[in-house]
Amino acid sequence: MFSSNLFAIATSLLLATLPSPGRAQSSDACAVVAGKQIATYSEAKACLEHFPYNQTIADETIDIVRKITDDMYIFNEIAAHPPKIDGLSIVPVNISKSLDIIQKEPWKSDRAFQDAVALILDKVHDAHLVYSPHCYRQFIFWQPIQLNSVIRDGKQIVNVAYVKDDLWSEAKKDWTGCEVTHIDDKTAMEMVVNYAVNNNGESKDVNTCFNNIMNSKDYFHGWDDGADDLGYHRFLPDQENHRYTLQCPKNGTKPEEAKYDEPFTVTIPWVAEVPQSFTDADSYWDKYCAVHTSPLSKRSPTFQEDTIEETHIGQSFDFSINSAGTRTRDYTEFLLLDGPDSDIGVIDIQSFSVSSEDKTEFVKNFTRGLQMFEQNNVKKIIFDFSGNGGGDACAGEFFINSFFNSTPDYYSDVKYSPLVETVVEKAFEKQTTKWIDYKSNHSQGAEWFKETTTYDRGNAQTKFSQPVSLSCDSWNNAFADSNAFNTSRWKASDLLILSDGRCGSTCAIVVSRLRLVHDVPALGLGGIRGNRMQFASFPGGESERLSSFLTDLQSLDLLDTPGAPKPFPERADMGWTFREVYRPNLPGTDFGNEKNLLEYNNVAADCRMFYTDENASDPKKLWHQVASLLKNGQCPLVQNGGK
Ligand SMILES: *[C@@H]1O[C@H](CO)[C@@H](O)[C@H](O)[C@H]1NC(C)=O
Ligand SMILES: *[C@@H]1O[C@H](CO)[C@@H](O)[C@H](O)[C@H]1NC(C)=O
Ligand SMILES: *[C@@H]1O[C@H](CO)[C@@H](O)[C@H](O)[C@H]1NC(C)=O
Ligand SMILES: *[C@@H]1O[C@H](CO)[C@@H](O)[C@H](O)[C@H]1NC(C)=O
Ligand SMILES: *[C@@H]1O[C@H](CO)[C@@H](O)[C@H](O)[C@H]1NC(C)=O
Ligand SMILES: *[C@@H]1O[C@H](CO)[C@@H](O)[C@H](O)[C@H]1NC(C)=O
Ligand SMILES: *[C@@H]1O[C@H](CO)[C@@H](O)[C@H](O)[C@H]1NC(C)=O
Repeated sequence: MFSSNLFAIATSLLLATLPSPGRAQSSDACAVVAGKQIATYSEAKACLEHFPYNQTIADETIDIVRKITDDMYIFNEIAAHPPKIDGLSIVPVNISKSLDIIQKEPWKSDRAFQDAVALILDKVHDAHLVYSPHCYRQFIFWQPIQLNSVIRDGKQIVNVAYVKDDLWSEAKKDWTGCEVTHIDDKTAMEMVVNYAVNNNGESKDVNTCFNNIMNSKDYFHGWDDGADDLGYHRFLPDQENHRYTLQCPKNGTKPEEAKYDEPFTVTIPWVAEVPQSFTDADSYWDKYCAVHTSPLSKRSPTFQEDTIEETHIGQSFDFSINSAGTRTRDYTEFLLLDGPDSDIGVIDIQSFSVSSEDKTEFVKNFTRGLQMFEQNNVKKIIFDFSGNGGGDACAGEFFINSFFNSTPDYYSDVKYSPLVETVVEKAFEKQTTKWIDYKSNHSQGAEWFKETTTYDRGNAQTKFSQPVSLSCDSWNNAFADSNAFNTSRWKASDLLILSDGRCGSTCAIVVSRLRLVHDVPALGLGGIRGNRMQFASFPGGESERLSSFLTDLQSLDLLDTPGAPKPFPERADMGWTFREVYRPNLPGTDFGNEKNLLEYNNVAADCRMFYTDENASDPKKLWHQVASLLKNGQCPLVQNGGK
C-alpha cells in the first residue's frame, strides 16, 4: 500500500535519519530472515531497507525512466493535462516533474526510492505504464484475511471471503462470511473505495480498481499484476497491520440471513513469505538486485529475464506465476451450462497471451469448442472476459474474426522520436523485428513512421506517425485453415460480453470492438453500486518493455546509438504504452483528436450485476444467473456505447 501523497512521503523523509553505509555482516537484517518461510512485517522491512540509497543509481534510474516516458510514452503529454471525463477518475501527472521531485529527496533507503518511482507511474492509472524493481518484489506480503464485496440484505458490504490460516496462527477460519464493518476506524466501504481510488493503478475506472483489489472469483487464477491489492502485495505495505471490526453470523445462521453476534475488533498484521535463495544481505543483493555483466555478456548481453515472444504485446506487466504459485490458466475454455440452461454456452477467455508454439493448438481447440457448441445446439453464448490481462493483439483479431468474419482496420499511431525513427529505418533495412509489421494506407517502408503529423495532446503539440493498423497475416492464415465452424448462426444479440472490468489491453480492445462495431451487449460485474461501470480497462494500445526494446536495439545493432536507453543499473524492468488506439468506426476527419482515444473514453456497460453470498465465489452459479438474464433479453444494447 503506497501513501496517496508523494509529497507527504517526501517531506516526512526529510526528517528521517540517513542510512549508515555499512555493508552486510553475518548478523545483518537479511540474515535474520534467510531460510525462514515466513517473516514478520518488521523483519521483512528491515531486510528490504538494508540497502542504502545511492545517488548515482538513483540518477541513472531516473534518467532512463524520464527518457523513455518523454520520448516514447504515448500518453506522456495528455497525462499531464488530462481531459475531464464523466465516470473516470483521472488525476493529472506530469511524470518528468514528479521525477524531479523524487530526485531531490534524500531517500532513507534504496527501496524507498525505487518504490517512489514505481508509485509515480502507477498514478497515471494506465496498467501498461510500470516500473518494476526486481530487488523489492521478492517478498510476498499477505493479510491473513482476504476480502470481497457482496450485496447482503439489500446493502453492499465488505465481507471476509477467505481466511489464510497457514500464515498467522491467530487467524480463525470461521471469520469467513463475517461482515467487515470498519477498517482502521473508517467504515469498511469508505476505506475500500478510497483505497481503490488512490492506491490502485489498474484502471481509470474506479469500479475496475475496486474489483481488482478484492478477492473476486479470479483472484487465485487470473493474471497477477503483483501490485496493490487490499490483502496481497509484492511490495512493502506502508503500515504494519490493519484493524478490522467484524460482525459474524450467529452460530447456526448463514451470512445471507444477516443475523449477527456482537461486533468485535481484531488487529491483523501483514505477514511476509520469504524468498528462498539468499543467506544474508550480500547474497540477497547478488541474487535479486545486482546486474551481472561478465566479459562475455558484455559482448552479447541478454536483457530478457526469460525469452519473451516477439509478438505485439498488449498486456499488463505480468508476473505470469500467480499468487497461488501456478501458471495462469488455459487461454480459453468452452463450457456448456447444464439443466434448463443447456442451450447456453460459455467461453471463458482467460488470456490472449498465446505463445507461438501454442498457436496451432489454440486454433484447433477454438474450432473444436465452436463445433461442440454447434452440435449441442447452443443458442446463446456468454463471453466471460473477467480477469483477462491481454496478450497478443493478433490473437484478439482472431477471436473477433471467428465470429464476424472480417473486422474493420483499427487505426492507431505511434509517438514520434528520432530514436524510434532510426529503429524503424534499420528494421526495414534488416527486415526484422516487430517494427515492420504495421500497415499504413499511404506509405511504404519506414515512411509510415517518418511522415509525421502533429496533434494536440494535453497542452502540447505532439508528433505522431501515420495512422497504422497491425498486420496479423500468420493468424489470418490460421483462420483460413480453420473454417470448419459456422458462427453465422449466432447474431450479436445472442452474444453477451461479461466482464468485471479487469479485461485489459488486448482484451479491452477486443471487447470495445465487439461492443462498438459489432453491437454485442456488455454486462459489467461487481464494482461499486450506483456508479456507471466500464467493462474494459487500459485499452491504450500496444505496450513495450525496456528489456524487449533493448533486445530489438541489439538485433538491429543500435545499442550504442546516441539517445538509446541504457539498461537499469539495478535489476528492474519498465513497461509503457507506445501505440495509441482510437475508437473504432471514426470518420477520417476525427482521426488524431485526443477525444477519440480509447484510453480516454468511457465506454460503459449496458447492464450490471453484483455478487451475492450465493454466487460471489462460484462462477458456475453466476453464469446461470447471467444466462437467465441473457435469455430474457434483460441486457439490451444501450445507445451510444452505454454513455
Ligand atoms: C553507488 O553505486 C555506484 C554504481 O553501482 C557505485 O560505483 C558506488 O560505489 C556506490 N556508492 C556508494 C556510496 O555506495
Ligand atoms: C511538466 O512540467 C515541466 C516543468 O513545469 C514542464 O516544463 C513540462 O512541459 C511539463 N510536461 C508536460 C508533459 O506537460
Ligand atoms: C455452534 O453450535 C453448535 C451446536 O448447535 C455447537 O456444537 C458449536 O460448538 C457452536 N459453535 C460455537 C463457536 O459456539
Ligand atoms: C487445448 O485443449 C486441451 C484439452 O482441453 C488442453 O489440455 C490444452 O491445454 C489446450 N491447448 C491450448 C493451447 O489451449
Ligand atoms: C484507409 O483506407 C481504407 C480503405 O480505403 C479506408 O476505409 C480507411 O478509412 C482509411 N483509413 C485512414 C485512417 O485513412
Ligand atoms: C451457417 O449457419 C446458418 C444458420 O444456421 C445457415 O443458414 C448457413 O447456411 C450456414 N452456413 C454454412 C456455410 O454452413
Ligand atoms: C447473484 O445472485 C443474486 C441472487 O442471489 C442475483 O440477484 C445476482 O444478480 C447474481 N449476480 C450475478 C453476477 O450473477
